[in-house]
Amino acid sequence: MPRKKRVDRRKPRAKAAPPTAQLAKINVKVNGVQYSAEVEPRMLLVHFIRDVLGLTGTHVGCDTGNCGACTVIMDGKSVKSCNIFAVQADGAEILTVEGLARDGELHPVQQAFWEHHGLQCGFCTPGMLMQAYWLLTQNPSPTEEDVRRGLSGNLCRCTGYQKIVEAVLAAAEQMRGQQQEVR
Ligand code: FES
Ligand code: FES
Repeated sequence: MPRKKRVDRRKPRAKAAPPTAQLAKINVKVNGVQYSAEVEPRMLLVHFIRDVLGLTGTHVGCDTGNCGACTVIMDGKSVKSCNIFAVQADGAEILTVEGLARDGELHPVQQAFWEHHGLQCGFCTPGMLMQAYWLLTQNPSPTEEDVRRGLSGNLCRCTGYQKIVEAVLAAAEQMRGQQQEVR
């Protein structure tokens, strides 16, 4: 005769309370405005930008460093803000897509995307704009190949990239023209 299974009638053990996360204080300048905040050490920079500062122009696409939708400029370098903890930005200066336009005027990169139809659904656009902006600060006279290589870490599922590349080349030309006017 098969033996009966023993039923454990003991009360389930109470679950241990999750440890309280220690908060870290950070100071960051974003689009020229100084912010101080206390954040969990595990908070990603992109979530700090969007959820704490409310700057939702920076998008989250993949959260794994692949799509580039979260690209911002940190201390002059283009970074994927889903790949960085907010605490790593302590003391840094950050530019997001909200900081590109000045005095109500679109930045030439934004204007060129508008004029050359460099977007469709627009989800990748903030990251594309920031990467294009950074690319043109590094190389004001890029070839088409330079632009394609420079944007290769930013994915777009809509446009096929051609119009984006045309927009960046047009922005480069426009920005060179502006610099000549200033001289
Ligand atoms: S959300 Fe950061 S690279 Fe995709
Ligand atoms: S415009 Fe839709 S993902 Fe690029």
